[in-house]
Amino acid sequence: TKPLKIAVIPGDGIGQEVMPEGVRVVAAAARRFGIAIEFDPIEWASCDYHERTGSMMPSDWKAQVGGHDALYFGAVGWPAKVPDHVSLWGSLLKFRREFDQYVNLRPVRLFEGVPCPLAGRQPGDIDFFVVRENTEGEYTNLGGRIFEGTEREIVIQESVFSRRGTDRVLRYAFELARSRQRRQLTVATKSNGIAISMPWWDERADAMARGYPEVIVDKQHIDILCARFVLQPQRFDVVVASNLFGDILSDLGPACTGTIGLAPSANLNPERNFPSLFEPVHGSAPDIFGLGIANPIAMIWSGALMLQFLGHQAAHDAILRAIELTLKQGPLTPDLGGTATTAQIGAAIEEIVLRQPAP
Ligand code: NAD
Ligand code: IPM
Ligand code: MN
Repeated sequence: TKPLKIAVIPGDGIGQEVMPEGVRVVAAAARRFGIAIEFDPIEWASCDYHERTGSMMPSDWKAQVGGHDALYFGAVGWPAKVPDHVSLWGSLLKFRREFDQYVNLRPVRLFEGVPCPLAGRQPGDIDFFVVRENTEGEYTNLGGRIFEGTEREIVIQESVFSRRGTDRVLRYAFELARSRQRRQLTVATKSNGIAISMPWWDERADAMARGYPEVIVDKQHIDILCARFVLQPQRFDVVVASNLFGDILSDLGPACTGTIGLAPSANLNPERNFPSLFEPVHGSAPDIFGLGIANPIAMIWSGALMLQFLGHQAAHDAILRAIELTLKQGPLTPDLGGTATTAQIGAAIEEIVLRQPAP
C-alpha cells in the first residue's frame, strides 16, 4: 500500500522544538505497527518565511499539500516579526477554512501523576471533549473602521453563523456524545446577551436534539460554563461551542488539568475531501523559546490523534499509554514541576512506544 504522506509544518517558536519530538514518536509508532509514512518537511507557514518573502505561504501552497493525508502542525506566531492577525490569517486560519476543517476536536483529560490546580480532583474526574466550530462564527474579516484616528472612530467586526456550518458541527458533537458512555452534551451559548446569533444557535441545537433522544442536552451560558469548568469539571462529557467560545474553553479546560502543554487538537474535515490538521492547542510560547523546556506532549498526543484519524487505532493507543506512563513515573517538564527537557520527554515516550507488545 501507498505510504501515508504527512506534511510536517513546525512554524515558529517552540513549534520548532516540539515538532521533532512529535515526529520521533509518530515514526516510532509507525515502525512498531508497520505503518509506512513519508514525512514532507515544510519550511513555510512561519514568520521567518514571511521575513524572507513577504508572505506566510507560497502561492501554490494548496497544490503542495492539498493531496497529503494530513498536516502535522506546530505553532505559528512571532509578533515581534509579523503582527499576529497577519501570520495566523496567512497560515493556520487559512488551512482551517480552505481545507474546510470545520470540527476542532480538543480532548481535556486529567492524568495520573499530574498535579491538578483544582483542589480534590482525581484522574477520571476530568475527561471530556471540547468540540469547537472551526470555520466561521466570530472569526471573520468582515467589518472595518471609519473615522479612523478621530474621536468619532467606529470599528465593526461581524460574526457569521450559517445554518450549514452550525448544523454540521452540532451533528458531529451529537454523534460523539451518543458514542460515549455518559451521552451528555453541553451546548455553550450566550443567548441572553448576544441576542441574534446565540438564540438562533440554541434553536439549531434544539432541532438537532430531537434526532438524538438518547443524548442528554444541557445549554449553558458561556460565562457560567467557564465557572463550572473550574468548580465542577466532572459534569462535562462533550461540550460544543462556537469558534471563539470554543477557543477560550480549550485553554481553560487544559489549564484545569495542570498545563496547556498537554492539550492536543484535531482540525477535522470529517468527509475527507481535504487533509485534516493536527496541532497542539498552545502557541509558539516566545517566553520559553530557546530554552529547550517546552512540553512536547501536546504535539505528541496530536500525532496520536492523527494516526487514529488515519485509521491506526492501535498506534494511537500505544502512544497514549506511553504518555500516561511517562506522566505517572516522570520525567516531567517544568510546566509540570519537573526539570526535564523537551527532548528527554520525547525520548522517554518513544522508548515506551517501542516496547509495546507487537500487534
Ligand atoms: P502560548 O500558548 O504560546 O503561550 C502561553 C503560555 O503558555 C506561555 O507562558 C508559554 O510559555 C506557556 N506554554 C505554551 N505551550 C507550552 C508548552 N508546550 N510547554 C510549556 N509551556 C507552554 O500563547 P500566547 O503567548 O498567547 O501566544 C504566543 C504566540 O503564539 C502568539 O503569536 C499567538 O498568536 C500564537 N499562538 C498560536 C497558536 C497556534 O499556532 N495554534 C495558538 C495560540 C497562540
Ligand atoms: C488556537 C489559537 C488560534 C485560534 C489563534 C492562534 C488564531 O488560539 O488554535 O486555539 O484562535 O484559533
Ligand atoms: Mn486558542
